[in-house]
Amino acid sequence: MAIYQTNERTNTNTRNKNHAQKRVEHVGDTRSVIPPQSLPEGASELDKQISRVLAGILADNYLLRLKVQEIHWNVEGPLFDSIHKMTEEYYTVLDGDIDELAERIRMKKFFAPANFKTYDSLSILSFDEEAQTAKEMIEHLTRDIDFVVSRFKDGIEAAEEAKDPGTADLLTAFLQHHEKYLWMFSSLLGGSSVKL
Ligand SMILES: [Fe+2]
Repeated sequence: MAIYQTNERTNTNTRNKNHAQKRVEHVGDTRSVIPPQSLPEGASELDKQISRVLAGILADNYLLRLKVQEIHWNVEGPLFDSIHKMTEEYYTVLDGDIDELAERIRMKKFFAPANFKTYDSLSILSFDEEAQTAKEMIEHLTRDIDFVVSRFKDGIEAAEEAKDPGTADLLTAFLQHHEKYLWMFSSLLGGSSVKL
């Protein structure tokens, strides 16, 4: 299977189209991170593939962390206190995840990308839409988390196919962090849950 699959969800607005387009455009585009001509000693082609997957997820997490902090700094209104605290908690969790994702790439003998130009080229997230109100900020954030969740799921599938349970477990643990905050931020907007 392709390591980076195209996003098949139907997008109804420009922003989502941009996300999906970005995802398609950057399929396998990690040339600036991982030289294609050779493998490090002791690393396999599968290690390279998984490192590419991890590099994309690392980029997503780093940019998402910045977006979360932007909300932490700039949110206003009656939900300020809740959002200010929740965003700080979330980006603190992301800091730990980001470090472990990068170190996982290093364990596979590839260099971890660490600059915004590369992150922008690898990530499915974009900064093309500004939110003004707290509600818009949370709406954008939940959509971004949703995209990141889908990338984690693709990554877990890739790791399982590569018979790499360590990476699959790591990604599964971090996926749960995003799912938790997706629920928490979505609940701020008013839920649509029903009784079992
Ligand atoms: Fe702060």
